[in-house]
Amino acid sequence: MSLLLLTCPVNGAEPPAWPINEEESAVPAYVLPELMKSEDGKPVKSVDDWRWKRRPELLRIFEEGMYGKAPARPALVYEVLEEAVPALEGKALRKQVRVYFAGKKEGPSMDVLFYVPSAAAGPVPFFWGLNFQGNHTVSADPGILMPRLPAEAPGNPRPKPLLAWKRGDQADRWQIEWVISQGYGTATAWYEEIDPDYDDGFKNGVHGLFPDLEAKRDGTTWGSLAAWAWGLRVGMDYLEMEPRCDARFVALHGHSRLGKATVWAGAQDERFDVVISNNSGCGGAALSKRWFGETVGRINTSFPHWFAGNYRQWNGREAEMPYDQHELLALVAPRGLLVGSAEDDKWADPEGELIAAKQASPAFELLGEKGLAAETKRENSAVSTGNPGYWQRPGKHDVMAEDWKRWTAFLKARWGK
Ligand code: GCU
Repeated sequence: MSLLLLTCPVNGAEPPAWPINEEESAVPAYVLPELMKSEDGKPVKSVDDWRWKRRPELLRIFEEGMYGKAPARPALVYEVLEEAVPALEGKALRKQVRVYFAGKKEGPSMDVLFYVPSAAAGPVPFFWGLNFQGNHTVSADPGILMPRLPAEAPGNPRPKPLLAWKRGDQADRWQIEWVISQGYGTATAWYEEIDPDYDDGFKNGVHGLFPDLEAKRDGTTWGSLAAWAWGLRVGMDYLEMEPRCDARFVALHGHSRLGKATVWAGAQDERFDVVISNNSGCGGAALSKRWFGETVGRINTSFPHWFAGNYRQWNGREAEMPYDQHELLALVAPRGLLVGSAEDDKWADPEGELIAAKQASPAFELLGEKGLAAETKRENSAVSTGNPGYWQRPGKHDVMAEDWKRWTAFLKARWGK
């Protein structure tokens, strides 16, 4: 029994501040806000209602209430660290570029690692996503530049993790050879180069670039998820310039916390033709009002730097929230959205991710997409052929070869290539 609902101290211990439920039978009834009704109570009936009224309204709700407002992106400034060279036994070309965040060649920057099929005759569709442990971990390729250690800031509670992370440690999660064999390019950067992932009072990473914004910090100011999302959009600014990338066909993908950042970036930025959420859970694709797995109170307590301050008002008060994550997913419409869950990943609430995708469907349908195929079930997701698509594989919280296969099938169905 994993239902944790303690109301009085046990053996002197404090009860958990935010009780967690992982039993389906214990999920109480909940009511979702209506996606296709504007704040003024009017139904969303036409493409124009969606485009000019509901979509901007929802973007504002998530921006001010949850992820926080990000500053304008800088002028694109980059430095080619390595021009395309043969890699992966000649199957690919590897390129590495440093993209600066201050609009000049100093200050924080991210190193973007690219592979494209060496056989490609012209620009190719691309996967673009952030990695957890440094570019050198996504492949054993010895040519990948080692990341620079993040600037240590006072109060950094973490040991220097890079010293422990080995080349190729995360190769299973990236499947680069396979992506290349499908005729796609792939690009990645280390998320901590955008904003180190710990609570430092928003001094380091790209937050530190905007002192005026920090001086006025309030409940609507950006947190780390919004910073990573901003970095993904800066990366897209570069992809639009990259001659080997066909920027009309970019699939943004992210796992777990990076899946949350991916969904927020993809919701805002219509240049991403496909958005892939992998096990993004609470604050990503999973509903908040469904009491299962991680909760709003718990995520805001464990990771106080991820969201805008306003989000904390819903700690333990999910039932009163005026919005939920199906409305975030709907912002991707009519572009491609694929939500991926893992069966044993209760913390991310696979069922809550499926219901959110289903509940986002009316926006996709209004805009001419098929919507989540009606027959989609968690245990039989192979039939999920619509848009949004949904996919659940057996196993734990992770990114696996099967996930990449499923993502690519979704892209091929959408792009015809
Ligand atoms: C924690 C966190 C999740 C997050 C995950 C991750 O488990 O509670 O919300 O998705 O870390 O990013 O790995």
